[in-house]
Amino acid sequence: MKSEVVKILSIILVENRINFPNEEIEKLIEIPPSSEMGDFAFPCFVLAKEMKKSPNLIAEDFAKKITKNLTDKIEKVKAIGPYINFFLNKQQDSEKVLKEILKLKNSYGKNSDNKIGRVMIEFPSPNTNKPLHLGHLRNMAIGESVSRILEFGGNKVIRANQTNDRGIHICKSMLAYQKSGNGKKPDKKPDHFVGDFYVMFSKMAKENPGLEKEAQEMLVKWEKGDKDVLALWKKMNKWAFDGMDETYKRFGIKHDANYYESKIYTKGKEIIFDGLNKGIFKKRDDGAIIIDLTNDGLDEKVVLRADGTSIYITQDLALAKLKAEKNIDGSIYVTGNEQDYHFKVLFLILKKLGFKFADNLKHLSYGMVGLPEGKMKSREGNVVDADELMDEVQNLAREELEKRQKLPKRELEKRASKIALSAIKYHFLKTDIFKNMVFDPKESISFDGNTGPYLLYSYARANSILKKAKVKEIKKFSVGKFEKQEWELTKKLSEFPVVVKDAGEKYNPSLIAHYSYELAQLFNEFYHACSVMEAEKNKRDCRLALVESFKIVLKNSLNLLGIETLEEM
Ligand code: ARG
Repeated sequence: MKSEVVKILSIILVENRINFPNEEIEKLIEIPPSSEMGDFAFPCFVLAKEMKKSPNLIAEDFAKKITKNLTDKIEKVKAIGPYINFFLNKQQDSEKVLKEILKLKNSYGKNSDNKIGRVMIEFPSPNTNKPLHLGHLRNMAIGESVSRILEFGGNKVIRANQTNDRGIHICKSMLAYQKSGNGKKPDKKPDHFVGDFYVMFSKMAKENPGLEKEAQEMLVKWEKGDKDVLALWKKMNKWAFDGMDETYKRFGIKHDANYYESKIYTKGKEIIFDGLNKGIFKKRDDGAIIIDLTNDGLDEKVVLRADGTSIYITQDLALAKLKAEKNIDGSIYVTGNEQDYHFKVLFLILKKLGFKFADNLKHLSYGMVGLPEGKMKSREGNVVDADELMDEVQNLAREELEKRQKLPKRELEKRASKIALSAIKYHFLKTDIFKNMVFDPKESISFDGNTGPYLLYSYARANSILKKAKVKEIKKFSVGKFEKQEWELTKKLSEFPVVVKDAGEKYNPSLIAHYSYELAQLFNEFYHACSVMEAEKNKRDCRLALVESFKIVLKNSLNLLGIETLEEM
């Protein structure tokens, strides 16, 4: 619908010899505060300077001219102050929109606009010394959603995971286990079992500061290939991996490519020695290899420790190169914003090393996640576990369902799990990525308000209307006179492709989240104002088409957030 308005505006601008690209016009078009003022409005302020005329006069003049050449898609054009307001031909437009949605179904909104090509998206990339935590849930929600949005935008997405499975942190868990594990096997989810030893290490090291040095010595041994150290490492890492795989599965993510620091860090060292020869890196007096980035406004950065062991950035140099070997056009790293500096340094070093792919790297960084005061106090020295949080939200979902109806146990659990995931994912994704946030389990699970469960509930409501009407597929209908609510809902449905495109360009799932919520609200307003089943035949068919279209679009929209719908709540 908007494209018609863009077309008309571009014609009149050309006629007036004003050079204005269509994308600019599209960005400037606004939706008036009430539908009495039209469906779209174009602000004329931007033209005032070039046309040497007041915006109000321009609006008036253009509105008159456009009115003379109206197409049948637009009913009326009117100047309101400095705006040109467009009133669409509701009947014709609505019919077109609904028919298109019913025809395209789950590919409605698909486009090929975000032309990156092959994109690798890396998330959540944990360390193997402890289980996934609250921040990883935000990471996975964002990583999966951005993957889906970019796929919908016509790109080939490769979901990658980089596991930091070696290094000083891992040695710490290992040392604590060596000292007090007594060869025990996991008696709980195995990644949690490993994590307990990491917490234990911190406590032990407080009383015995020498342990830090011992962990460092263990790391040197690991890099030298010490048999006992490697055996212990393999055993504990397997536990960590098994546990994390379970969590990925539960959250609904899968990877197409897996990288492990242990397998690539030596390649990182090679890059560093190479750069040392070329004079990009230098050896400091204490033996550490560094790069001086002070001229770029950054610091002096160590890339290899004095004892020769590899650090975080060492492996990242190799990783970026390995990824590029997969012929990708873009590479995105999803991590918390505490790593902003790391990625700035990494990308700059790669550029200085002369890698072409260094221009295609993007760090998608998100803000910190906290919990509301006093809730779910975590164990000392540890943050909230992802699994614990999913359990907690699932318990709340189950309680809510039990209040409403009696369901067989399996069905109850299936629904509680889907509702919980919708609550968690939506709560994260509705927040702008860069913002710090508080994750409130109670708020996230509420069945009304701006939440995942509210959206699932609206979807199920639409489904139940269609079920009652016993329609399989709506083939024939025509739009007669529309009520305000019907029109508003249809207009929102028509905006979906534009929102998807925008979300892809900005790597921003919150745009899809906001859209889903607004769409569901308009549907609920329609539901309360317009009866479907009691309406006369023509009207009923048309409303059924509207309900079905809503179902399709909400499902597509939620799918881009990684949220599965439920036919019944
Ligand atoms: N394992 C790291 C951490 O937990 C994140 C890794 C991010 N990816 C990367 N290529 N550096 O902090």
